[in-house]
Amino acid sequence: MALRLLALTGLTAAAAAVTPQRRKNVLFVISDDLRPELPCYGCDHVLAPRTTALAKESITFTRAYAQQALCAPSRNSFLSGRRPAHTKSWQFVDDFREVGPDWTTLPGAFRKAGYQAVGCGKIFHPGLPPNQDLPYSWDRRMNTTWADWNNPNEPRCPQNTSWCSVEDTERFQDTQIASTALELLTNVTRDERPFFLAVGFRKPHVQWRAPTRAFDAYPPWNVSLASRPKGPQHSVDVAFHVPVHEIDVFTDWRACGGSQALTPAHNYPSECQQAWRRGYYAAVTFVDEQLGVVLDGLTARNRERDTVVVFFGDHGWHLGDQGEWMKMTNYENAVRVPLLVRVPWAPESAGRVVSAPVELVDLFPTLAGLAGVDVSYTSRESQPLDGRDLSPLFFGGAGDDTHVARSVYPRCVANASAAWKHNDCNDTPRRRFSHMGYSTRDERWRFTAWYEWSHLRLAPKGSPVAVELYDHAGDTGTCDGAGGSALEDYEWANVAGDHASVVEAQLARLERLFGIDAPIVDLY
Ligand SMILES: *[C@@H]1O[C@H](CO)[C@@H](O)[C@H](O)[C@H]1NC(C)=O
Ligand SMILES: *[C@@H]1O[C@H](CO)[C@@H](O)[C@H](O)[C@H]1NC(C)=O
Ligand SMILES: *[C@@H]1O[C@H](CO)[C@@H](O)[C@H](O)[C@H]1NC(C)=O
Ligand SMILES: *[C@@H]1O[C@H](CO)[C@@H](O)[C@H](O)[C@H]1NC(C)=O
Ligand SMILES: *[C@@H]1O[C@H](CO)[C@@H](O)[C@H](O)[C@H]1NC(C)=O
Repeated sequence: MALRLLALTGLTAAAAAVTPQRRKNVLFVISDDLRPELPCYGCDHVLAPRTTALAKESITFTRAYAQQALCAPSRNSFLSGRRPAHTKSWQFVDDFREVGPDWTTLPGAFRKAGYQAVGCGKIFHPGLPPNQDLPYSWDRRMNTTWADWNNPNEPRCPQNTSWCSVEDTERFQDTQIASTALELLTNVTRDERPFFLAVGFRKPHVQWRAPTRAFDAYPPWNVSLASRPKGPQHSVDVAFHVPVHEIDVFTDWRACGGSQALTPAHNYPSECQQAWRRGYYAAVTFVDEQLGVVLDGLTARNRERDTVVVFFGDHGWHLGDQGEWMKMTNYENAVRVPLLVRVPWAPESAGRVVSAPVELVDLFPTLAGLAGVDVSYTSRESQPLDGRDLSPLFFGGAGDDTHVARSVYPRCVANASAAWKHNDCNDTPRRRFSHMGYSTRDERWRFTAWYEWSHLRLAPKGSPVAVELYDHAGDTGTCDGAGGSALEDYEWANVAGDHASVVEAQLARLERLFGIDAPIVDLY
């Protein structure tokens, strides 16, 4: 606490010294399904030079976590600045406006402060809340149809496969989103008012349709497989998830066995895994290029020096690691995200790496803090903000290594003897969930507890039905740099059975952090 106060005092002095003449802008760039397998995280087997260059001028967070590994709930959380327990948005059915009609959102806070708040691409998940939360979150000029936000869908890959390499670059959604972003940049910089510009890229979400030049960076024979391609030892069935929705529509996925073929004990054939990993990496290379287009546009319009740039993934992704594909779990790789924040008026922050755990819910107060926008009035709304203002970190403040990052995932178990089958709750009303998994990550451990769900209270009931403990000792949050993926080397064995006293302490802390008032019972 003393350290924090000191850091804050330091901030006040530093901020006073560089008090801007001009109000600061925000360029807020989201990539859909992006995990931190990037060269700026030591993963040199991936080609992404623009994120590397951006990281050299930014703080790179090596332990940044989403609050839930699914688009709609994650975006509802970081854009409202409230955790899923408060948004009550856990799937593709509900949104935070049902419970928070008076809440100010992240873009809405900038709008209220006199900014031009505009965006393009996928910011809120389509329809959640309705119409991108217009008119509360954005400028009136953005009161257009969804089609104006979200450029027309790109063509499907030939034969409906999950990946394809394409020569013509114009018909990519992300190319169009980048060019809309440039047009918005032109428009907002004609105006005296500062801007908050949100850009939501669609890749590397499936389908992995990417330019041939991006695929060329990955010779097919040279794509490695996950080092731990099976479900964790001693794991619990309810923790595992077999994708059915987004992936089973692809013909190549079906040819490799479809969702039926995946179990905690059996992953897809190697050649299938290799092709999919390659497709994902090519899509990452492509989105990196599009990020570059927007960053160049900012520089060309001479707004680089007074604009905070944030680049991050809305949640992580499994690429066959832990026998998992996609997201929708509480494991590290589903919830950990890349997060780069560039603050040109905090030059000492350039190139800094922060390993203290941070969360996407922190973005709202942090960006407000960095831009000097007062959001203290949100404490009087029906639910105050949940995140922390990390802006002191940019002016020499120390990270809080003791912080515990939190995430959740509901389950709708259909078959008790194979709890991983058809267990996602994507389209299930929240009163019909069967379980909720609560996960905490500290410097050393990931600890997850699964509870049955109270339909009446929309809260966990009783004591946990299963717990998982994963040891991250030695995990730097980066690849080992030699082309390997250290980020896939952890969470291969649930060690809860070997560490009774750790489990007891972790469970007590988890229940306190999530406000679970269940009796702690003997688990072992
Ligand atoms: C938004 O657009 C709709 C339809 O064009 C219109 O009815 C509505 O009044 C507009 N709202 C605002 C706040 O401008
Ligand atoms: C930019 O401004 C022009 C002129 O007002 C307008 O026609 C255009 O639609 C705007 N572009 C975007 C992406 O809003
Ligand atoms: C491809 O998949 C989509 C989504 O499932 C489906 O609507 C479409 O009919 C399929 N097209 C072909 C040619 O199989
Ligand atoms: C539940 O899963 C088990 C194990 O995979 C399978 O044998 C059984 O047929 C399934 N039951 C139903 C109703 O799907
Ligand atoms: C193959 O992968 C290794 C390890 O990532 C890398 O060093 C090498 O350059 C790659 N070879 C080719 C031809 O891309």
